[in-house]
Amino acid sequence: RAVAAVIPAAGRGVRLGPGAPKALRTLGGIPILVHAVRALIRAREVSLVVVVAPADGVAAVRSLLDSHGLPESKEIAVVAGGDTRQDSVRLGLAALPDDVDVVLVHDAARPLVPVETVDAVAAAVRAGAPAVVPALPLADTVKEVVPAPGGGPEPVVGTPERARLRAVQTPQGFRRDVLAEAHEKIASNGEGATDDAGMVERLGVEVVVVPGHEEAFKITRPLDLVLAEAVLARRRA
Ligand code: CTP
Ligand code: MG
Repeated sequence: RAVAAVIPAAGRGVRLGPGAPKALRTLGGIPILVHAVRALIRAREVSLVVVVAPADGVAAVRSLLDSHGLPESKEIAVVAGGDTRQDSVRLGLAALPDDVDVVLVHDAARPLVPVETVDAVAAAVRAGAPAVVPALPLADTVKEVVPAPGGGPEPVVGTPERARLRAVQTPQGFRRDVLAEAHEKIASNGEGATDDAGMVERLGVEVVVVPGHEEAFKITRPLDLVLAEAVLARRRA
């Protein structure tokens, strides 16, 4: 059973503010994408990584990866992404060879995910779960609101019980056939799923949660870069 990782890295990183595309910004002097690829190939069972690059940046990403001395024992492909994360994942899946039957989808924007988390997700898929997500309990209480017209204070319509909520990370692991079916059937219907497991849920397939890791946080806003640099510095100390 071959396990592949698909790493969507075609986003601009608008919430990070002006600058280079998010995956190409550096942490500890090394591009975020290179950290993410290394984190996935460190997992023994991952034999192939498909990086989904911005459509106009495939050659640049290819040479970036080649210049960072990644192990030659693992195949690393670079393909062009799309306008949404969902499109990018679909294009990455389309590039997988036939013998792959387990797929881990991992955000390039989570460069510091520990290998133990990757292994735990892959192991749960191997053990028979069609879809597995790493996730953590929430620190903050969450409110559901309705957007206020004109941008005033937003009325609260509910407070879901925090103990039952989980903040979901990546890599999310799937039986390849299940994820491929989700991407075929749950095509862009305007809703734009924010994660892959959400699409699989809509198929009616059970998704299970395994423990995530604090260091698998997503770099989204500028403060996340500060935290990531601190985590790296602590690892290197
Ligand atoms: N992604 C992608 N293709 C897109 C959009 C996003 O491959 N068209 C990837 C990003 O590169 C990132 C992951 O999906 O690794 C998670 O998305 P997010 O954190 O939202 O990154 P961006 O979309 O780049 O950031 P923003 O939403 O702030 O613009
Ligand atoms: Mg985005």
